[in-house]
Amino acid sequence: MNGGYLSVNNLNFEYPDGYKALENVNLNLSKGERLAVLGPNGAGKTTLILHLNGIHGELKGEIKLNDISYSEENISKIRKSVGLVFQDPDDQLFMPTVLEDVMFGPKNFGFSEKQVEENSIEALKQVKMLDFIDKPPHHLSFGQKRKVAIASVLASEPELLVLDEPSSNLDPASRRELIDILKNLDVSIILVTHDLPMALEICSRSVILNNGKITANDNTYKILKNEKIMSENRLELPFGFALHHLED
Ligand SMILES: Nc1ncnc2c1ncn2[C@@H]1O[C@H](COP(=O)(O)OP(=O)(O)OP(=O)(O)O)[C@@H](O)[C@H]1O
Ligand SMILES: [Mg+2]
Repeated sequence: MNGGYLSVNNLNFEYPDGYKALENVNLNLSKGERLAVLGPNGAGKTTLILHLNGIHGELKGEIKLNDISYSEENISKIRKSVGLVFQDPDDQLFMPTVLEDVMFGPKNFGFSEKQVEENSIEALKQVKMLDFIDKPPHHLSFGQKRKVAIASVLASEPELLVLDEPSSNLDPASRRELIDILKNLDVSIILVTHDLPMALEICSRSVILNNGKITANDNTYKILKNEKIMSENRLELPFGFALHHLED
């Protein structure tokens, strides 16, 4: 099950104030796999996935994508392959209009003008934000910003899609649409989420990060069914969510 498409080996990270946010993290993803990263607030999930896009600079440990290591000379190539949807859409959107924001990625990665336009319109269509293309992103609601941020990453056609809490602030119909988009994409996915039903629906395998360490790495259903693992890691299914209806 664990393959060598993405491998994170012995990753450690300390913030400048000395806080150890990641301790000996090991992670493997095979091509096309969809993996959820679960865990409580402050566990280190965002810190971990920022590393997957080379955002935290020099590594203590090793990360490889397609056997290419995350060294300084490879990082622009890696950023083209890995599409990261930030936890806070305000960290992602900075252009004067929605359309320009979505076009920014593919333009920057050297897609042809035609491809930039086609991809951007298609991505905005997928998240149902086509009516908003001329608006400044800062005039949008939080959920609308989230959808534009997702479109801006989809437009660059990443081969590994990393999403940090993508369903938070989405209304139920938009959340459902996002799940359907993700299920139909032919890419590898790392999904950081507190939305456990979404993790179960999309990702057959999950890891739990707690206090900077991986504390579980297993089939998502098995994890969600294990009361000890769930409570030790401050995880809880939503009220009324009936896991027992699902097959073992
Ligand atoms: N710039 C920083 N300097 C010092 N400590 C930081 C910094 N950024 C994050 N931390 C700490 O690192 C730990 C991990 O933070 P991180 O944002 O990765 O958690 P998370 O698992 O994504 O949490 P959440 O579920 O709330 O998004 C937290 O304890 C946080 O307080
Ligand atoms: Mg986070």
